[in-house]
Amino acid sequence: MPRAFITGITGQDGGYLAEQLQAEGVEVHGMVRADGGDAVRELLSRAPGVVLHQGDLGDSDRFGELVADIRPDEIYNLAAISSVAYSWQEPVLTARLSGVAAAAIFEAAWRLQENTSRRVACLQPSSAEIFGHAAVSPQDESTPVRPVSPYGAAKAFAHHMAGVYRGRGLHVATCILFNHESPRRPLVFVTRKITAAAARISVEGSGVIRLGNLEARRDWGWAPDYVDAMVRAVRCETAGDYVVATGETHSVADFAQAALRRAGLGDRWRDHIEVDPEFLRPAEAPTLVGDAGKAQRELGWAPTVRFEEVVGRMVDHDMELLHGRASVAQ
Ligand code: GDD
Repeated sequence: MPRAFITGITGQDGGYLAEQLQAEGVEVHGMVRADGGDAVRELLSRAPGVVLHQGDLGDSDRFGELVADIRPDEIYNLAAISSVAYSWQEPVLTARLSGVAAAAIFEAAWRLQENTSRRVACLQPSSAEIFGHAAVSPQDESTPVRPVSPYGAAKAFAHHMAGVYRGRGLHVATCILFNHESPRRPLVFVTRKITAAAARISVEGSGVIRLGNLEARRDWGWAPDYVDAMVRAVRCETAGDYVVATGETHSVADFAQAALRRAGLGDRWRDHIEVDPEFLRPAEAPTLVGDAGKAQRELGWAPTVRFEEVVGRMVDHDMELLHGRASVAQ
């Protein structure tokens, strides 16, 4: 039975990945922090067979020990600071946890491969944020890396290190993930902030959603699809970089309108939105939209859920939560 090691297993993508791999019969190990609490309980209720190990993203020696002990065939490096907004508050921490930590993982994987003469395959989740003010649209694997946020710069470092270790003989695939959402998305991201608020406003009959940049355009897909792309990329014979995206772009205002419409507030949606400078960022990419043609050709991957359906599923879930018919808060 193949063995997988997932860092960041309690996050949105980590949970979906653990479930997918377990369903395939893979032995799944995950790294969790000592204070994992509710997130760990939630994970174990969905994927009861996972084996959890304590570790911290900032402790590269511990990574090395874990990788050497577990001896995984596949490593998914999902642990990172994932909020671009937060990366502006903690740029140094972001550099360490979303950038430098990836080098520690690749080094540990490479040593394991050297010591055991077994293939160890890694997946690095790169981000559309590495493109920043992209020179071309849509972006693909050849688009110049030009980040404009601390998060994007940290991810760019990790992306380049993936290439470095690939050159050293380690199978390191990257998926350049565009925004991907689900009802498990934390409220710090704009989609879930909007869908949770839309459901609340619909039930209470009034309220506003305070947002930052309404004009930013993003390519929003369905998280389980993106996790599936990661598995395909790890298992592909040759390691490469793959853009994972839907190819459609919508503004934050479009998302809010679609969510409020789904919640039954269609005609008056604009009355429920206010712009609050607190949520503006010092700099950001105006438009991100990906061309996943390479993933389609080489991995046989394609998105299965489109924008309206992503919004609909998230709003419906948040309505169910408010009515006490769903249990997952995030
Ligand atoms: N979070 C947030 N909150 N974003 C807002 C708000 C708000 O109140 N108002 C407007 N926005 C805009 C942001 O400025 C950004 O343009 C867009 O909404 C999406 O923001 P987020 O949902 O926070 O995601 P992100 O695009 O910054 O980053 C996500 O996608 C990346 C890939 O493109 C994250 O999942 C990253 O981890 C991922 O790499």
